[in-house]
Amino acid sequence: MRTIAVTGSASGIGAAVRGALAGAGDRVIGIDLRDADVEADLSHAAGRAKAVAAVERACGATLGGVVACAGLGPQVPDPATIVSVNYFGAAELLAALRPALARSPRSAAVAVASNSAGLVASSPNPLTEACLRGDEAQAREIAAQGDGFGAYAGSKLALARFVRRCAVSADWAGAGIRLNAVAPGAVRTPLLDAGLAHDQLGPAIRAFPIPLGAFGEPKQIAAVIAFLLSEAASFCCGSIVFVDGGSDALTRPDSV
Ligand SMILES: NC(=O)c1ccc[n+]([C@@H]2O[C@H](COP(=O)([O-])OP(=O)(O)OC[C@H]3O[C@@H](n4cnc5c(N)ncnc54)[C@H](O)[C@@H]3O)[C@@H](O)[C@H]2O)c1
Repeated sequence: MRTIAVTGSASGIGAAVRGALAGAGDRVIGIDLRDADVEADLSHAAGRAKAVAAVERACGATLGGVVACAGLGPQVPDPATIVSVNYFGAAELLAALRPALARSPRSAAVAVASNSAGLVASSPNPLTEACLRGDEAQAREIAAQGDGFGAYAGSKLALARFVRRCAVSADWAGAGIRLNAVAPGAVRTPLLDAGLAHDQLGPAIRAFPIPLGAFGEPKQIAAVIAFLLSEAASFCCGSIVFVDGGSDALTRPDSV
């Protein structure tokens, strides 16, 4: 039986991942602000350290998988906190739990990015670059000068790039740990509901084209995450898998 740590396990996509993995016989250690095995706030370094220590205690310092899913939507009024949770709460947790993953013979990790990463400046993007330098203070300062969407999409772009850069390194692929990401489109969760209720974001989300014709469901994202964690995905490394009903292919057909 694998032991898999899942952040954001109390709601939406994280809860669906938790259900899918537990249903398949994995032991899940859920991490969230509340209603979780490990209750911790991933928006700051102390909360992340608390989460890592508690997960290590619960799993005996050996993990078969990690899913970094916790996140805040672009409607959250404090853009700096969006960056702290969505990038640093994911990237730092993945890095800190990597040694526990390395103790399993065939482990894997998945980060939850977003197809919105394709909607902001790819380069230069000072927010994304500050994230990837690990400079949280600077990233928060840049985010605070902009809006929630810039913080959201910029932090998700940084997370996708973190995955691609780390995945192929000696620490990850070289240690037998597969690291990949999913990039969901609009999925029916409390995060999406809050975006839809927002004055400016709501109309923009509704107008964004989805070739398959409807918002996704959390279980559709969870199924792909479960696949990426499984032996069926044993040749996937550094992949960013768009699970968005075709929105990214429609709006950026040549971005490959
Ligand atoms: N729903 C969508 O349309 C959509 C689209 C693309 C990407 N995503 C991403 O999917 C992930 C899951 O989102 P969701 O839609 O399921 O949202 P959700 O709001 O249903 O779940 C997010 C979970 O993250 C937790 N969380 C938030 N801040 C935290 C913190 N500081 N510390 C610990 N936990 C914290 C919340 O408590 C919640 O349980 C997020 O990273 C989000 O950006 C969602």
